[in-house]
Amino acid sequence: MMTGSFNFFLHLIVFGSVVGVFVSLYILEYKTRIEKEWERKLFIGGIMRTIASITPFNILLLAITGFGNMVNRYGLNSPWPQEQWLMVKIVLFVILSANALYVGPHLNMNRARLIKSVAENSAPVDVDKQFALHNKKISLFLLIQTVLLLAIVLLSVFGDGKHPGIF
Ligand code: HEM
Repeated sequence: MMTGSFNFFLHLIVFGSVVGVFVSLYILEYKTRIEKEWERKLFIGGIMRTIASITPFNILLLAITGFGNMVNRYGLNSPWPQEQWLMVKIVLFVILSANALYVGPHLNMNRARLIKSVAENSAPVDVDKQFALHNKKISLFLLIQTVLLLAIVLLSVFGDGKHPGIF
């Protein structure tokens, strides 16, 4: 008997979309740093913002299909069992989402403002130092988000999910 569902299918497709956003941001972040011209740094930052703008939809769809997975898993009778892997996963998901919606855009906007000031010839004297500091914060942000995402995937796959498998 098949044990999947279209809801679960969509859950995994959206997960794929999240990974796509992560990989694109890593590549573009690298490009921003090696790019010499400030106008082009600003341009790449704009592309990063456009790619990241799919994030609220990803979060909403993961929450809806995640809830759908729970309905499929536990049925409609309450109370639902409280599985530890899933409780931890949901807490990590909330932290990951809050970071993605508030911290990430904030960090990106602050750096974009600095880059714009250089492009408009009104940069502060210690612009290189400030740029390096922004970069450091963004690296740390990306690292934390990656660790959170990996933890969520590990919990999903090695937690007591529907597809334990033998390999
Ligand atoms: C970034 C966020 C998320 C990612 C990357 C993610 C990823 C995954 C993956 C890879 C699986 C498949 C596990 C397997 O069977 O091998 C899964 C299953 C599951 N997910 Fe998520 N998920 C996320 C968010 C959520 C949320 C927010 C919920 C709950 C509200 C949720 C509930 C579930 C449930 C209940 C299953 C097990 C389905 C079953 O075995 O019937 N997920 N998730």
